[in-house]
Amino acid sequence: MRSVIEARGLTKCFAGLTAVSDVSLSCERGVIHAVIGPNGAGKSTLINLLSGDLKPTSGKILIDGLDVTGSGSSQMSLLGVGRSYQRSNIYPSLTVAENCNIAVQSRFEISMRFLGAVSAYPEVEVGTKRVLERVGLESVVHKKVSQLSHGEQRQVEIALALATNPKVLLLDEPLAGMGAEESLRIVELLRSIRSEFAVILVEHDMDAVFALADTLTVMLNGQVIEAGVPQDIRSSARVQAAYLGEDFSD
Ligand SMILES: Nc1ncnc2c1ncn2[C@@H]1O[C@H](COP(=O)(O)OP(=O)(O)OP(=O)(O)O)[C@@H](O)[C@H]1O
Ligand SMILES: [Mg+2]
Repeated sequence: MRSVIEARGLTKCFAGLTAVSDVSLSCERGVIHAVIGPNGAGKSTLINLLSGDLKPTSGKILIDGLDVTGSGSSQMSLLGVGRSYQRSNIYPSLTVAENCNIAVQSRFEISMRFLGAVSAYPEVEVGTKRVLERVGLESVVHKKVSQLSHGEQRQVEIALALATNPKVLLLDEPLAGMGAEESLRIVELLRSIRSEFAVILVEHDMDAVFALADTLTVMLNGQVIEAGVPQDIRSSARVQAAYLGEDFSD
């Protein structure tokens, strides 16, 4: 199957530091490709390159086989790359529905100044309703985001990524700061939507990673030290060494 998103030899240098070094990976529709590695390994930088938030120093990014290297984040969004951020990227004083309307309307070329009159654009309302039902946020649609639990706020993040109708979903630590119950809810959500997207998932929660990932790339100091199916990653001596003896075996 053809890759929806592919990185070829992606490299990002900051002054004096190569945060991402010659990283190649790809992801097809219906696949969850987890990117793991210790703090500072370069995972978020890789996500920022794939989302167009950062420009690579060298290497290529392909969407559906087309070279889109150098495209900015709005262009990548239009090309079908949706993302959530490690740190929250939502408007806390707006309601869940209002946040979602902003993301949905970005697909309909309706200018922000018309947001007050969303009711004039039934397609925006329909899109928002569909996305919020999908992620299980129907009951809090009219609550301000600031009034939601941390877990619900992360669900809003995923909803906002889905609202742009993407082919690729880039998720940077969607479970960060969540309790066990909330994490399970997000894992179930990702399971329920996985078939429609190519998902690149950065996550430190290894139970969730191994519950979801079809394939993994392991990074350390900007480089890929291992890539493969979960079984290969669990048994890799290099991966175990990188995590200083954390036990991933069953
Ligand atoms: N804008 C930047 N300018 C300079 N250095 C940066 C910048 N962004 C990231 N770095 C550095 O690049 C390296 C990789 O950072 P990155 O945030 O990608 O790691 P990470 O794998 O996401 O870590 P974590 O698991 O803690 O989120 C780190 O050493 C970080 O300090
Ligand atoms: Mg990170």
